[in-house]
Amino acid sequence: MATKTAERPRTIKPPKVKDQPLFIGGKWQDSVSGKTFATTNPATGETICQVAEGDKADIELAVVAARKAFEQGPWGTMSARDRGVLVNRLADLIEENQEELAALESLDNGKPLRDSLAIDVPASVKCYRYYAGWADKIHGKTIPVDGPFFCYTRHEPLGVVGQIIPWNFPLLMQAWKWGPALATGCTIVLKPAEQTPLTALRVAALAQEAGIPDGVVNVVPGFGPTAGAALSGHKDVDKIAFTGEHTTGQIIMEAAARSNLKRVSLELGGKSPNVVFADADLDAAVDGAYFGLFFNQGQCCCAGSRLFVEDKVYDQVVEKLLKKAKSQKVGDPFDPETTQGPQVSQEQCDRVMGFIESGKKEGAKLLTGGKRVGERGYFIEPTVFTDVKDEMKIAREEIFGPVMNILRFKDVDEVIRRGNQTCFGLAAAVWTKDISKAHRLANGLRAGTVWINCYDVFDPAAPFGGFKMSGFGRELGEYALELYTEVKTVYVNLQ
Ligand code: NAI
Ligand code: MG
Repeated sequence: MATKTAERPRTIKPPKVKDQPLFIGGKWQDSVSGKTFATTNPATGETICQVAEGDKADIELAVVAARKAFEQGPWGTMSARDRGVLVNRLADLIEENQEELAALESLDNGKPLRDSLAIDVPASVKCYRYYAGWADKIHGKTIPVDGPFFCYTRHEPLGVVGQIIPWNFPLLMQAWKWGPALATGCTIVLKPAEQTPLTALRVAALAQEAGIPDGVVNVVPGFGPTAGAALSGHKDVDKIAFTGEHTTGQIIMEAAARSNLKRVSLELGGKSPNVVFADADLDAAVDGAYFGLFFNQGQCCCAGSRLFVEDKVYDQVVEKLLKKAKSQKVGDPFDPETTQGPQVSQEQCDRVMGFIESGKKEGAKLLTGGKRVGERGYFIEPTVFTDVKDEMKIAREEIFGPVMNILRFKDVDEVIRRGNQTCFGLAAAVWTKDISKAHRLANGLRAGTVWINCYDVFDPAAPFGGFKMSGFGRELGEYALELYTEVKTVYVNLQ
């Protein structure tokens, strides 16, 4: 991701998409039940195509295929370096097909094409390339121990991993999960979100074209309580990686615990504080605060959804944000002028509108927005609430929509205390020219990532994940390799 909205892309039309099967063991197949479900274009509410609906029986087939590929296929004996070559080839193919993938992502998710093209696709490519580089650099250690023994560790692939991803960044979440899993030599069963299954299936086809052996990656679209539950509760799955709502994370962790104590990593939501001090470069802070909340229609786990502004500059910042909100173009994701697309689904749209109603009822001041846009699709006006109080629902719960909440503060200790008054801890940001103050906040705020004078800066080399109920485990960077490896200790008797 970048810190500003992408440049205008050239015009690309929404693609026509055929009905989609499941991808299991290198084969395209219907679901065992024969059932399908519709995936919808959020800009119109119309069906894009039917997708085979995976359930328990399909997860079973996919896990068997992944197990076989892990234990018997060429994947397990392939040199780590060759594995890296294949992951690099997948990155190249995604890049070669970037326009098609960006268009598919925008069609299925509703995000502006300019963003899919400039952010989602290139960030995914970078992520695969980064992990391709790791494949042959995953080392154990030699350890000096007492006695006549030689001791060393091996970092072995964890095995068959289940991965359940959300709909807000389908391609990118797949890359964050496939990159380290492939680099370490695991095999994968992916369940994409039911709202956005299309790019995951296309990437599976590209993985096969890249030469990744059959059964190494399997994609089973379907719903959470059926396919998702079957995967997280499967006895022959060694690990489950999940990104999504914290309550779903709790269900998944329970299923993992009960079935076979499979390893779990969770990247859950947030209610991230973004703190603007009076001594900040206010124009930069306003741009960063706007992007940090409204990017991706507000559907970001790390959205800066509690904007704390210092008393002295509160009115000034509010005025600048109002101007920015008013200048946005909400509409067709394929229109190059569009800066904000629709919410992903009717359900999400209703949920966000419910939060807006609650903000009004609890006495926050609706500065701008608050209504749906147009008759078709799931568009919501960029919405800004001022005079938001810590105890209001809009200041406590994840809204996941284009709704900004502005809170007022007076001093450093107060804002650290209030910033931490949440069950979440995914991200935080601070805007100030005073480096001591910036670092006091960076140290004091309990969050997995802190941005100083920037927002939403990501790099595949830098870890990302949460404190508290925002989850555990770190994706990206070297840290993510730990999520996909087991450490084996070997002692050799030297006598
Ligand atoms: P969700 O967490 O229910 O869905 C995410 C993924 O989990 C999907 O693939 C879904 O099929 C799967 N899933 C759902 N129930 C499951 C179960 N019982 N077992 C296994 N897998 C299951 O999120 P949802 O319902 O789409 O959105 C609700 C809210 O969650 C949003 O309004 C937002 O606040 C939050 N959310 C947070 C995300 C993040 O990146 N932190 C991403 C998506 C949603
Ligand atoms: Mg759900």
